[in-house]
Amino acid sequence: MSKDLAVQSSSPAPASQPSEANIRELVDAFYKRVDDDPLLGPIFSSELSGRWDAHLAKMTTFWSSLVLGTKDYRGNVQEAHRPLGNIEPQHFARWLSLFLDTVQNRYEPAAAVQFMEPALRIAQSLQLSKFGWDYRIPDTQLALLASLKRLRRGEPAGHETEADLPDRSSGAPFPVNVTGVENNGS
Ligand code: HEM
Repeated sequence: MSKDLAVQSSSPAPASQPSEANIRELVDAFYKRVDDDPLLGPIFSSELSGRWDAHLAKMTTFWSSLVLGTKDYRGNVQEAHRPLGNIEPQHFARWLSLFLDTVQNRYEPAAAVQFMEPALRIAQSLQLSKFGWDYRIPDTQLALLASLKRLRRGEPAGHETEADLPDRSSGAPFPVNVTGVENNGS
């Protein structure tokens, strides 16, 4: 496996492997975009006033737990979002578009998928909690999640359908694992 020679430019060369250091950079870059965003910025700045540093550190631990398996994150993602009022579908769409774009800019595809799939899965779970179990997750999110699952399994890209997704006919909730961490008992 050849090491990438970092080409000096305004943005870093895409990383082939997640590491604690590049996860911290991802978190910083993502929340900088969130902070600058006219839709999301005001929500985060009012909720996190005076607590940004702690939030960035917590989110680095969160993603490291998910992607590197460090298991240091102690928290409850659902509970953290429960008090947030006035959150609408457009906020999730914006959050996801900024996050997925930031990840895509900073990681090679195989590494990027490791962030994207849990982000979409957790976003689904948060949306169902916020908007009700019969809320219809936007098709773009379903299609993207299905294609990421295929990628993760090493299957060729194909015509994506909902066949890959858990059955949720009649508005049944997904059996979503909220933390995204596989519980293998250790
Ligand atoms: C509309 C979209 C979202 C908004 C407005 C939002 C907002 C927030 C805010 C304000 C906090 C800080 C809570 C606090 O400390 O008081 C937070 C925490 C957090 N968010 Fe989000 N969030 C969104 C979507 C997501 C998604 C899709 C994920 C999935 C990865 C996520 C993961 C987290 C995590 C892990 C925490 C830390 C939870 C803890 O305290 O342990 N958020 N979010």
